[in-house]
Amino acid sequence: MLETKDLGYWYTQQNDYLFKDINLSFEAGKVYAILGSSGSGKTTFLSLLAGLDQPKSGSILYKGEDIKKIGMTNYRKKDVSIIFQAYNLFSYMTAYENVQTALRISGAKKTDEKDYIIESLKKVGITEDLINKRVTHLSGGQQQRVAIVRAFVSGHELIIADEPTGNLDEITTGEIVDIFKSIAHEQHKTVIIVTHEPEVAKQSDLVYELKNKEFSLKTTEKIVVD
Ligand SMILES: Nc1ncnc2c1ncn2[C@@H]1O[C@H](COP(=O)(O)OP(=O)(O)OP(=O)(O)O)[C@@H](O)[C@H]1O
Ligand SMILES: [Mg+2]
Repeated sequence: MLETKDLGYWYTQQNDYLFKDINLSFEAGKVYAILGSSGSGKTTFLSLLAGLDQPKSGSILYKGEDIKKIGMTNYRKKDVSIIFQAYNLFSYMTAYENVQTALRISGAKKTDEKDYIIESLKKVGITEDLINKRVTHLSGGQQQRVAIVRAFVSGHELIIADEPTGNLDEITTGEIVDIFKSIAHEQHKTVIIVTHEPEVAKQSDLVYELKNKEFSLKTTEKIVVD
């Protein structure tokens, strides 16, 4: 689905790589966590996977094709959805309108648009009474649920999230990761979550840890949650 080939990146000096010669692959139907301490380069790595920035060396292949060849704008528009810690919702719109806007921008046509949006929001626990509220009147966890629905109604097969549970308590974090898991498992999407929280990594299907400029595959059993 998504692969990095000898991927490398540096900001200011070529000899000061954040990471280099990275070869990882991400399959459909799974939730991946990218675990690493603050400043290790997780957001940078994610911005490369999401086509927001160009690698300094190596390449990224989506379904076997270099995303540069697909065209970065095209790739972002058609294939990948990004979820940020700060939700990035339209604050003056309701939950319903936020999802409707994403659906329309993506060009995905639904004959029963209204029912589809309401059902999608309900699935993640945004109940009838919340659907038509302005999103600024919703809690952090509720706003993140709206952001997730917005990402998956777009029909994109790849969902990339940067610290999506950063502002949330432990129980809500667990519920959000469960939503990501059901999207990956039931809709056969690839979900990649960047996080510094071992709890999130432990719940994921596969974990890559970024440490000392290298990525290693960790088994979820070995993750210590303190
Ligand atoms: N635009 C930039 N120019 C120069 N250096 C940068 C830039 N953005 C990030 N960095 C540096 O690159 C390193 C990795 O940053 P990055 O944001 O990818 O880390 P992170 O793992 O996401 O950290 P956090 O967990 O705190 O979000 C840091 O040392 C950071 O200071
Ligand atoms: Mg970051």
